[in-house]
Amino acid sequence: MHCVTEGDWTERYRDQIGRPPWEVTTPALILDLDAAKANIATMAGRFRELPAELRPHIKVHKSPELAMLQVEAGAVGVACATAWEAAVMAESGIDDVLIANQVVQPDKVAEIVRLAREHRITVAIDDVRNAEQLSRAAVAADAQLELLIEIDVGMGRCGVRTQEEALPLAQRIAELPNLRLRGLQGYEGHCMLEPNREKRVEDAHAANQKLVAAADHLIADGHRCDDLSAGGTGTYYITGAHPRITEVQAGSYALMDCFHGNLVPGGFQVAMTVLGTVISRQGNTVVLDCGRKSVGIDFVTPPLVAHPEGVVRYYAEEHCLVDFPGSPPLDVGDTAQVMAGYGPTTVNLHDVFHVVERGEVTDIWPVIPRGPGRS
Ligand SMILES: Cc1ncc(COP(=O)(O)O)c(C=O)c1O
Repeated sequence: MHCVTEGDWTERYRDQIGRPPWEVTTPALILDLDAAKANIATMAGRFRELPAELRPHIKVHKSPELAMLQVEAGAVGVACATAWEAAVMAESGIDDVLIANQVVQPDKVAEIVRLAREHRITVAIDDVRNAEQLSRAAVAADAQLELLIEIDVGMGRCGVRTQEEALPLAQRIAELPNLRLRGLQGYEGHCMLEPNREKRVEDAHAANQKLVAAADHLIADGHRCDDLSAGGTGTYYITGAHPRITEVQAGSYALMDCFHGNLVPGGFQVAMTVLGTVISRQGNTVVLDCGRKSVGIDFVTPPLVAHPEGVVRYYAEEHCLVDFPGSPPLDVGDTAQVMAGYGPTTVNLHDVFHVVERGEVTDIWPVIPRGPGRS
């Protein structure tokens, strides 16, 4: 059987190069490269003033090209969400790759130890059995894996809940071959949802303190905790200023979206939109052909249309319904840009970025697939 999606599918988008961005085939993920470069330079500049290093989380853009621009601007390496993202990053030439999640499923464990034979691969861990599994796989592959013990600093997601639980895990890791404890991870994701800036600062300080206290607890028992990794776009200026936090995993600043625009007003530009075509205009409503299969609908912040007076009323699978107070400024066949509510869950719905520079599409960049398949 010949699968029609086999081969280099990015080639199928190449006829878009040279078009103005409003004329590409919709729905389309549009990357304003100049804006993304400006965001990358802005954040790199801010980290030159902060004690921590920047380790951008690339689950936001899933693009080796953008990750390389971040590393060239001074990032120490990247953070990834999946083993498959880590594979593309490492094989694209990024030396220091953190998977900021637990890796348990056997195919993913096999993938990360395969990578760790030739690359510096670090993975988050919060369970002794997982440490034993990773050690066995690393020995079998003749690879060295580095680990960050994840501490839950208030989000209630992964991570051991207390420093007392972290200690036996560190002790077991010290006994296991082909593993090295690099430090701790304590992502304060719950703070990103706090709209009040003062309260966010307070919560982030408390989260950072819990992480540092856990590190001290392990250090007192003779363990090394050289790296303390935390933070995101909503807290980079708080967590990155802590003298003991060594790296910040901010990611969304590179592309921005409505959610992060509300969190860090000013300084970062919207570099990614989804282009849709008006396929119907009825009364005060226009219907764009970019529904929830091309714009991630997140629970936190709804998407916005570029026309400020238009309100996105509803997202169906392939339809975005926009209401205007009067006669819509868009007619059937016109295109409009939609700013994602949350960028990472939008990028993930697309095969490629349409890279726009100086008013035209100049390149097509792949988005890393969700699973092991990659071009
Ligand atoms: C572990 C971890 N680190 C860092 C980030 C990056 O956050 P942001 O995209 O808000 O910068 C996330 C986002 O969900 C995350 O889960």
